[in-house]
Amino acid sequence: MRYLCLLLIMLFTCCSLLANSSDYVRIETNNTVMILNAQKGKIPLFVHYGNLVTAMDIDNSMTGLMTEAFPVFGMSALNEPVLQVVHADGNPSLKMVVEEVTQTVGNEVRLTQILLKDEVYPFYTRLCFKAYPRYDVIEMWTEIFHKEKKTVALQKYASAYIPVDPGNHWLSHLQGYMMNETNLVEEPLLSGSKMIHSRDGIRTSQCSNPSFMVSLDQKPSETGGSVIAGSLAWSGNYKMLFNKSYTHQLNISAGMNEEGAEYRLAPMEQFRTPQLVLTFSTRGKGGASRNLHRWARENKLIKGTALKDILLNSWEGVYFNIKQGVMNEMMQEFSSIGGEMFVMDDGWFGNKYPRNNDKTSLGDWTVCREKLPDGIEGLIDCAQQNNLRFGIWIEPEMTNLQSELYEEKPHWVLHHPNRTPGVGRGGSQLVLDMTNPEVRDYVYDIVDRLLTDYPQIAYIKWDTNMSLQDYGSSYLPANKQSHLYIEYHRGLTKVFERIRSKYPDVIMQACAGGGGRVNYAYMPYFNEFWTSDNTDAVQRLYTQWGFQCFYPANTMAAHVSASPNHQSGRIVPLKFRFDVAMTGRLGMEMDPGKLSKGEKEAAKAAIEAYKSVRELVQLGDLYRLISPYENRRTASLMYVDSLKNRAVFFAYQIDAFVQQAPVRYKMDGLDPLKKYRLTEINKKLQGKSRFVQDGKAISGRFLMTEGLYLPLKREYDSMVIEITEIKE
Ligand code: DGJ
Repeated sequence: MRYLCLLLIMLFTCCSLLANSSDYVRIETNNTVMILNAQKGKIPLFVHYGNLVTAMDIDNSMTGLMTEAFPVFGMSALNEPVLQVVHADGNPSLKMVVEEVTQTVGNEVRLTQILLKDEVYPFYTRLCFKAYPRYDVIEMWTEIFHKEKKTVALQKYASAYIPVDPGNHWLSHLQGYMMNETNLVEEPLLSGSKMIHSRDGIRTSQCSNPSFMVSLDQKPSETGGSVIAGSLAWSGNYKMLFNKSYTHQLNISAGMNEEGAEYRLAPMEQFRTPQLVLTFSTRGKGGASRNLHRWARENKLIKGTALKDILLNSWEGVYFNIKQGVMNEMMQEFSSIGGEMFVMDDGWFGNKYPRNNDKTSLGDWTVCREKLPDGIEGLIDCAQQNNLRFGIWIEPEMTNLQSELYEEKPHWVLHHPNRTPGVGRGGSQLVLDMTNPEVRDYVYDIVDRLLTDYPQIAYIKWDTNMSLQDYGSSYLPANKQSHLYIEYHRGLTKVFERIRSKYPDVIMQACAGGGGRVNYAYMPYFNEFWTSDNTDAVQRLYTQWGFQCFYPANTMAAHVSASPNHQSGRIVPLKFRFDVAMTGRLGMEMDPGKLSKGEKEAAKAAIEAYKSVRELVQLGDLYRLISPYENRRTASLMYVDSLKNRAVFFAYQIDAFVQQAPVRYKMDGLDPLKKYRLTEINKKLQGKSRFVQDGKAISGRFLMTEGLYLPLKREYDSMVIEITEIKE
C-alpha cells in the first residue's frame, strides 16, 4: 500500500512536472548519466543519476525522480536545504529558478552550467557539473554571487545535492582516530539522517574522511551492485548528510561545514564551493574505487602517473635525535639495500632553541649547527655519495611558545583578543594565521629558501600536528571572523599555488600526523599522503584497506618499521611487514643499521621485488579480494595493468586457528581468455618457495572462478605472486 502511494505520488509529480525532452540536461560519461530537468523560469528538478538511460525511456517509463535538484530555504522549508541565505534587507527566503543552461563539450571534459536566479532578488547560483567521460567521473560544485546593495549572509552552501531512488541503501565510509585512521565502516541507511563531518579546522580527515560510497540496492559488495561514490575536495571542515526522507528517497548533500562559518558575501564577489568528485559503478565498491583512482591519477594528482621512489624516513629510527653521523650511517645502510631517497624528519632545526622534543622551535627553520655541523649541504653530499635523493621535514603552519618566531611575532598566531591562546602538541604548539598575507609570505619563504639554497632537495614532508583551536584572527576584521575556517584554507592553497608554480617537480607529502590531510583537495599540490603514524603491519592492513577505497595506491605512503612495533608492541616478521608496505608507495621508517645481516639481505631482496612490480602497484587497477574486515583471518588484494597482461597478487594470514577451513583465493581483473604464469616473488626471506604453482601456467578464467589454495597457515604469513601473461 505504502509503495502504491509512493508510486502514485511519483507518477503525479512526473505528470505535473514533465517537460518536453529539450528541457532535460544530460551530464554524460561513457557509462553513466546524470539527468536534470531545467525549464527556464522553473525550479530545476533532479531526474536520474546512474546507468546510461535515454530521455525516451525516462519519459515513457515514468521512473525519473523529478524531485528538487537544489532545495533552498525559505519558501518550502520542509526539505533539508542546501542553500540558505539572509538577503541584504534581512529577508531569509530564496526561490531559485532556472535562468540559463550552457554546455560546452570538449574531448576530455564536458562542462554543464545551470544558472539559477532568485525569482525576486538579484541573487544567483550556478550549478556546475564537469564530466570526465572516460573515467565515469563528474565533479559538482556551485558558484554563488549576487547584485544586491549590501552583503548577503550565506548560512548554508553545499557543493552538491544528489537525490537517490528508494532502495536498500548502505553507506560505506571511513572513521578513526590518530594512529587508527581510515577504518572502513559500513551501515544500512534505514531512516533519518546520518552526518559525516569534521570540525578540526586543519587536519580534517584524521577522524573521518570526506568520502562515501552508497550501495544502492544491497549490502556493499566489492564486485557487484550499483554504487555511488563521492569525495569532497575541500581541506577545511566539511559536512556530508545522508538523509532518508519519509518517502524513502535518500538525499545526499556534501559541502563545507557551515557551523561557525557564516559567510558574508559582498556584491559581485563570487563564492565557489569545493568540488564533490562523484562516480557511479555497477561493479560494486571495487568498480567505484577503480574509477576514482584512475581519475585521480590522471586528472587531479600532481605528476600522478610518475613512479615514486622508495624512501627511508628517519622518524621512527631516531625520532628527534638527529645527528650528522647517524644520518650519514642511515643513508649508507639504506643505499646498500637498494633505497632511493632519504628523508630527514623532525629535529634538525633551531639554534637559540634546538628542537630536541615537541615543545620548542617550530618556526625557527635554520639548521641546528650543534646537531648538523656540516649543515644541510653536508647531508646532501652524503646522500649524493650514496646515490640517494634527499628530502626534509617541515611543519611551516605552526610555531611554539618557545621559539624565536613567537617571540618576534606573537600576533601571527590564531587567538582571541583578551585571551591566552590554547596550546596543542607538547603543551606549547600554536597555529599561524594563514589568512594573513604576511604569514603566507613567511610560509612560502620557508619552502622557497630551502629549495633555492638547496636545489638538490627532492622531497618535502609537510607536517601539521594541531587542530584549529582558537577561533580568532587578528588579521580578519571583526565582521569577518566567521570566515576563518574558510579563509585559513584559501590562504594555505594560495601558498601551495605559489610553491607549485615555481617548484612543480619537488615531491611533497601531506603528512598531518598521519591521515590528517587525506583529501582530494591536496592532490594538485601534494604527491602523496602519510597514511598513519601507526606503522604496525597488521593494523595497517585495515587502515590501508579503508584508505584505498577512495585514494590510489601511489598516494599511500606505507613504511616498514621496527619489530616490536613502536605503536602496538607487536612482533611481526620482516617479510610480512614488507608485503603489507609493498601495496602502496614503499618506504622504511627505522634505523636500517639495527637490522641483522640476514634481515638486511632480506630487506634488499624485498626492495628489489618491489621494484619489479612497482609500476603495477603504483599505476595498476586495484582489485580487493578478501577484506580483513570480514574476519576470515586473511586479507588479499591484487593490482592489474590496464592491458591485463601483468598483475601482482598479495595474500596475508592475519591470525591462525588450528584446523581452520582453508581459504580459496579467487582473483579478479584478469582476462579469462589469457594464460598466465604465476611466480612467487619476495620469497628469498624464507628460502625455497612453498608455492606449488610456482612457474606454472593457469588461465585467467580458472584463477578468477576457481582460485587457488595457498600454503598460508601461520599468523603473519604472507605471499606475493607475480602474474604474467604467457604469449603463445
Ligand atoms: C607527526 C608525523 O606523522 C610523524 O611522521 C613525524 O613526522 C612527527 N610528526 C614529527 O614530529
